[in-house]
Amino acid sequence: MATLETTVNGLKLPNPFVIASGPPGTNANVIGKAFDEGWGAVICKTVSLDASKVINVQPRYARLRSRKSGEIYGWENIELISDRPFATWIDEFKKVKDQYPDRILIASIMEEYHRDAWHEIVHRCQEAGVDAFELNMSCPHGLPERKMGSAMGENPDILEEVCGWVKEVAKRPVWAKMTPNITHIEDPSRASLRAGCDGISAINTIRSVIGVDLETLRPEPTVEGYTTLGGYSSQAVMPIALRMCLEIATVIKHEFPDRTLSGVGGIETGNDAAQFILLGCDTVQVCTAVMKSGYGIVKPMQEQLLAFMERHAFARVEDFRGHSVQFFTTHADLVRRQTEARAVKKVEAEQKKVVKTDAEWHGDDFVKQTDALARG
Ligand SMILES: Cc1cc2nc3c(=O)[nH]c(=O)nc-3n(C[C@H](O)[C@H](O)[C@H](O)COP(=O)(O)O)c2cc1C
Repeated sequence: MATLETTVNGLKLPNPFVIASGPPGTNANVIGKAFDEGWGAVICKTVSLDASKVINVQPRYARLRSRKSGEIYGWENIELISDRPFATWIDEFKKVKDQYPDRILIASIMEEYHRDAWHEIVHRCQEAGVDAFELNMSCPHGLPERKMGSAMGENPDILEEVCGWVKEVAKRPVWAKMTPNITHIEDPSRASLRAGCDGISAINTIRSVIGVDLETLRPEPTVEGYTTLGGYSSQAVMPIALRMCLEIATVIKHEFPDRTLSGVGGIETGNDAAQFILLGCDTVQVCTAVMKSGYGIVKPMQEQLLAFMERHAFARVEDFRGHSVQFFTTHADLVRRQTEARAVKKVEAEQKKVVKTDAEWHGDDFVKQTDALARG
C-alpha cells in the first residue's frame, strides 16, 4: 500500500501538499481550515516586524481565461506581504500550534537589510512555536521599492549574507524562496545553500503585465487609472517552474545532497505534483489553485498522486523523487542518440529483407531481396 507520508528536513508531513505563502495562509482561521481539509503543511502569508508600512490596494488581482472554456489559467497579483500586525501573528502562531501540535506550520518571513531585524523576527517566531522558516526573497512587486523581497533575491551576494544572518539564530529548518525573475536560478539557489539554508522553494511569481483594457486603454489591474508591475501565477507558469526546479534539483543533487526542494508554480492536480517530484522536489506548494477552487482540492490531489504511485508500484514519495532528472541531456546528445537509433533501425530493416524461405519472396521487393542474398 503506497503512503504519502514523508519526512523533510526532519519535519514529519502526512503528505507532501503544502499551502504556499499567500491568501490561503493569511490568518489562524484559514490555516486551521487548511489543516482540517488535510494539507500536509501550511506556510503563512509573509510576515514582517512592522506591518504599518504594508498598504494594499483594490483591485489587486487580474486573471487570464481560456478563450474557449473560460477557465482561469493565468493570474496576476499586486498584493503585498501581510498587512496584519506582527504581535497578532505571534498570538496566532501560538494558537495554531496549540490547536494543531502535530501539524507543520512554516513562517514565511521578510525583513529589510538589517541583521538585527532578521535576528529578531526569527527569535520571536520560533519562540511562538513555528516548525520552520521560509525566507521570502522573491516577491517581485511593491517590496523591492524598499529593497526587500526580490531586490534581495536577485542579488546572490546579498542573499548569501542575509541567509547567513538567519542561520546564525534559527533553530528550525530554513527554506529560501527563489524569484524566477533572473537568468540563472542556480546562482541564488547556490548562494542560499552555501549560507546553510536547509532547503529551497521555487518559484515565486513571474514579473508581468497581464494586459491592457482596450476600452479605457489602461493596464490591469487598474487602480485609479494606473497599475504597477505584478506577479504572474497559476497553471500558465508551471512549465517555467518545472524547468527551474529541475535546475535547482541538479545543483542540490551534485553539490548539496542533504538539502531539500519545495516546488511551487501552477500546481493544481496530483499529476502536476507527481511531475515536480519526478524532477527532484520533496514537497509541492499550492497558492492560486486554492484561490480558484478552495481548500478541498487537496483530497483529489492526494488521491491522484496515490493512484499514480500505485500504477508504478512506488511505495513512497522518496521512491520516485528525481527519477526523471536523468532523462535531460544536451541537444547535441539528442542528435547523436537519434542518429544511432536510426542506424540501428536501418540495419534491422535491411535484415528483414533477407528471405529465409522461398515463401517470403514477393514481387515488389524482388530485386532488393535478391541483392540482400548476394555478395559483391
Ligand atoms: C495573491 C497572491 C499573494 C501572494 N503572496 C505571497 C506572499 O505573501 N509571500 C510569498 O512568498 N509568496 C506569495 N505569493 C506567491 C505564491 O506563494 C506562489 O509562489 C506563486 O503564486 C506560484 O504558485 P501558484 O501558481 O500555486 O500560485 C502570492 C501569490 C498570490 C497569487
